[in-house]
Amino acid sequence: MTNAAARFERAKTVAFEINAHLPPDYQAELLGEQLRVDRDRLVLVVGGAGYIGSVLCGDLLAKGYRVRNLDLVVYNNGVCVAPWLGHPNYQFMGGDLADEATFVKALDGVTDVVLLAGLVGDPVTKNFPDAAARINDEGHSAMLRLLAGKGLNRVVFVSTCSNYGLIQGDQLADEDFELSPLSLYAKSKVRVEQTLLGGRGKVDYTPVVLRFATAFGLSPRMRFDLTVSEFTRAMALGEDLLVFDAHTWRPYCHVRDFAELIRRAIEAPAERVAFEVFNAGRDVNNKTKQMIVDAILTQLPEAKVRYQEHGSDPRNYRVDFTKVKERLHFVPKWTVEDGVAELIDALKQGLYRDIAQPTSFHGNWEPQV
Ligand SMILES: NC(=O)c1ccc[n+]([C@@H]2O[C@H](COP(=O)([O-])OP(=O)(O)OC[C@H]3O[C@@H](n4cnc5c(N)ncnc54)[C@H](O)[C@@H]3O)[C@@H](O)[C@H]2O)c1
Repeated sequence: MTNAAARFERAKTVAFEINAHLPPDYQAELLGEQLRVDRDRLVLVVGGAGYIGSVLCGDLLAKGYRVRNLDLVVYNNGVCVAPWLGHPNYQFMGGDLADEATFVKALDGVTDVVLLAGLVGDPVTKNFPDAAARINDEGHSAMLRLLAGKGLNRVVFVSTCSNYGLIQGDQLADEDFELSPLSLYAKSKVRVEQTLLGGRGKVDYTPVVLRFATAFGLSPRMRFDLTVSEFTRAMALGEDLLVFDAHTWRPYCHVRDFAELIRRAIEAPAERVAFEVFNAGRDVNNKTKQMIVDAILTQLPEAKVRYQEHGSDPRNYRVDFTKVKERLHFVPKWTVEDGVAELIDALKQGLYRDIAQPTSFHGNWEPQV
């Protein structure tokens, strides 16, 4: 088969086989996009050993992509990379995104970049502000500078719905809603978003910003510091769970759905995503903490929960996911209730025997930075 014929076959696979569940006219657009890129795709995933990244790498490999993962494994999470070592389409680079020489090397030959790495979450950035500034601000600025002029196709930046901060009343935040980042973590995300979106006419790649809901679901690198898993773990272990501000809203989304969306953002026709922001999640997964507790209680009715007002995290936001549904046909499959059931089952099967005293492998508490 000639190179052109092989490329056409590969493009067809992506457009029609991998995405068989999407509408036919959208698949036809995907085929056009695959042919436009004109190279076998090598996706650089920065942070591919993390909670979301390790699921994403598996998904991309399964769909036939070549993957290079740059990760500093700051939570001693190197084991999450192990299943893919030796896979012909996978390369792991242990290194710091903030080291320019390392990042230049990581970019060599890649077609697309997904930026997932950094110190993730309000607590870890509050507790390690110097490292957060070095990685989430300076490191990201340097990466963005180095991305231009490399002939890249897509740059997907994973941001957060935390950027909406504290919303009064029951308004839904769409992508144009005023940003009100409360933490160092979210402030850095907003700065990176602004730099990327301000690059129109100056950069030769197509940037896309995905504002993720809070993640749940099983991953090789679990995070028991995130609400759904944190509550489920404590209640399943019979601990006395103290829930602050049970009425506060937030959106949630399964890690497997996030992996699907990132791939969708890479494959989508450029005109659908260029310099666009997408809230990533599903309306039905906008939940109060009380709703999450109730979902867990239906499966663990004996669990003990206490409530208290005026906790240290005032975030309250409900998010509108119309745009990602309409433009990318993305509707997450998994509900919070599914995620709770999945995790309770994993705990019952003894998958997390050491979770009574979790270490930083299981949550973003003490990064080695
Ligand atoms: N998990 C969520 O609920 C959530 C919600 C919204 C947005 N996000 C975003 O999704 C992305 C991934 O989140 P996650 O939950 O998988 O986080 P994570 O902490 O599990 O993963 C981050 C990864 O980045 C790596 N890393 C940290 N510093 C690095 C450095 N200097 N160089 C190279 N690698 C480094 C870590 O080793 C880790 O593997 C983040 O950008 C986060 O802001 C996550």
